Amino acid sequence: MRKNRLAVVGALAAVLVAVTGPAAVAHDEPPTLADLAQRHGRYFGSATDNPELTDAPYVSLLGSEFDQITPGNGMKWYATEPQQGVFDFSQGDEIVDLARANHQKVRGHTLVWHSQLPDWLTGREWTAGELRVVLKKHIQTEVRHYRGKVFAWDVVNEAFNEDGTYRDTIFYRTLGPGYIADALRWAHQADPRVKLYPNDYNIESIGPKSDAYYRLAKELRAQGVPLHGIGLQAHLALQYGYPATLEDNLRRFSRLGLETALTEVDIRMYLPADEEKLATQAEWYGDLTEACLAVRRCVGITLWDYTDKYSWIPAFFEGEGAALPWDEELRPKPAYYAIRDALK
Ligand code: XIL
Repeated sequence: MRKNRLAVVGALAAVLVAVTGPAAVAHDEPPTLADLAQRHGRYFGSATDNPELTDAPYVSLLGSEFDQITPGNGMKWYATEPQQGVFDFSQGDEIVDLARANHQKVRGHTLVWHSQLPDWLTGREWTAGELRVVLKKHIQTEVRHYRGKVFAWDVVNEAFNEDGTYRDTIFYRTLGPGYIADALRWAHQADPRVKLYPNDYNIESIGPKSDAYYRLAKELRAQGVPLHGIGLQAHLALQYGYPATLEDNLRRFSRLGLETALTEVDIRMYLPADEEKLATQAEWYGDLTEACLAVRRCVGITLWDYTDKYSWIPAFFEGEGAALPWDEELRPKPAYYAIRDALK
């Protein structure tokens, strides 16, 4: 009897393998975050940076778990136009090539930003006329170079202050608020197919800063300026609380016909991390994933790198870290499992 039953089970298993193929029976390969996100029509990505690409285990996970990549620094102005009119796309290209090899799409980051600018640009005064020429050339040369290779651009990064007024940058000061519309138009001319986003932090909640983007988006739309989405960086911190209005906020942009994306997600905490903090962090990762899935046109989520090993947080926020879903040894943390659950 026992033998018979075993035989039946064996035969059934054989039939299963024959019908569904070996992959369906193998339990050692769980679906990746990218696989799970794709079932919802979303991407799940990570930032990366050129120096890390010598780390083979890191690169292997980067290539398998995600279907979207953002270069953390390689496409910024200081890297791409280190001298006026002299362009260097080698770092961005390295990341684009890697992404292509892994069938991943690339978000371009970023064309116009007050930070990480080359010295030749910040070290002198410009008239409005001069700076317009410089800005247009920078945008169009870079966008043209990556035409067909990036699916979206963070055209203007961090343009507003916390209170919703325009940030006082070299571009705003010299050109006035119209520089944003101009940047979008110039980028669109250089690649009519690429999706164009402004991108900023602390705009996850409804409030003065996200209101500024809402108003800007409406205005630009009304004026026929090419604009396709709003990037919410989502650099969160446990001590500031979860942005409870995130989902409503995403929804109001969606109602304008705009895409949204969570573009630079990390959730930092004061160190040392402990079980409780990691549990809260996990909950937040799950919640923000659910918020994106709940809103039409929230197209995807990008971690600002996926492992604590290469996070920018410890260098920029004293005493803080442990912000990502994989730890410094590339082991998944509770946050990773929370994201998986949210995507299931
Ligand atoms: C950070 C990079 O991760 C660091 O390596 C670099 O030293 C500074 O910039 N918002 C942005 C990103 O839009 O470009 C920043 O990236 C993080 C904050």
